[in-house]
Amino acid sequence: MELQTLKIIITGAGRGMGATFARRLHEAGAAVAAGDVDPTGLAELPEGIARHHLDVSDAGSCREFVAWASEQMGGLNGLINNAGILRDGLLVKKHRETGEVTTLSDADYQAVINVNLNGSVYMTRETVRTMVEADTKPGIVVNLSSVARHGNRGQTNYVATKAAVAANAVSWAREFARFQIRVVAIAPGMVETPMTRAMPAKARDALLARIPCGRIGKPDDIWRAVQFAIECDYFNGRTIDVDGGLVM
Ligand SMILES: NC(=O)c1ccc[n+]([C@@H]2O[C@H](COP(=O)([O-])OP(=O)(O)OC[C@H]3O[C@@H](n4cnc5c(N)ncnc54)[C@H](O)[C@@H]3O)[C@@H](O)[C@H]2O)c1
Repeated sequence: MELQTLKIIITGAGRGMGATFARRLHEAGAAVAAGDVDPTGLAELPEGIARHHLDVSDAGSCREFVAWASEQMGGLNGLINNAGILRDGLLVKKHRETGEVTTLSDADYQAVINVNLNGSVYMTRETVRTMVEADTKPGIVVNLSSVARHGNRGQTNYVATKAAVAANAVSWAREFARFQIRVVAIAPGMVETPMTRAMPAKARDALLARIPCGRIGKPDDIWRAVQFAIECDYFNGRTIDVDGGLVM
């Protein structure tokens, strides 16, 4: 698909990678509808990008957003499931000093599942339903996975969602092939965004030391993979790792 023919929704587009994808697609001539639960970043996007409140963890909000976006852009042919959160913590932790045993809270577990996994399902369901009802083709769905999908200490909730969205790229690529809709996943390593800036310095430095490319990724490194995934009509159902060699 050519970028300038896109009418595409980006979730979590107020900052970080989502904001970069929105800007790059807008610069390339695509119609972009940006959604975020936090209005601050949305207000800073360039004029010409349609924007609206969206809470991907709420199926009703997703329905309303997709209907609004389709109206704004005169239809839809793309979706980037980018919104995501972290609530890291060991599943079971024994505190060194006190010997106390604590566990990952239900709230932290559920919040990550609700946003990262349920959000991608609600958004894909509504977007693809809208496309199929209008008989729009071809189409593209991009899921933001992570190298964490292979498993990581302290990230039970996040890992489960990032493995799930990569696996669902396959489920949906198979289901939606008959509608000429491709579904792919991109799995970044560590990328410089507000999400990773919030990491403890010690954990950040330890991860950086393991990246053969010798630097943290930039949102534009990941944009290049998103661009390839959109433009290459023969790329489908697969996940691209863009991680500077972190997990090879
Ligand atoms: N930064 C990294 O190193 C990294 C690595 C691998 C994968 N990822 C994934 O890439 C995606 C983007 O990450 P980022 O680093 O740009 O994150 P970020 O925290 O900088 O931005 C995420 C955006 O999503 C929005 N959001 C959160 N909850 C939402 C909800 N319920 N509904 C709608 N929007 C919501 C936030 O307000 C924010 O604007 C995420 O899915 C993340 O898991 C990030």
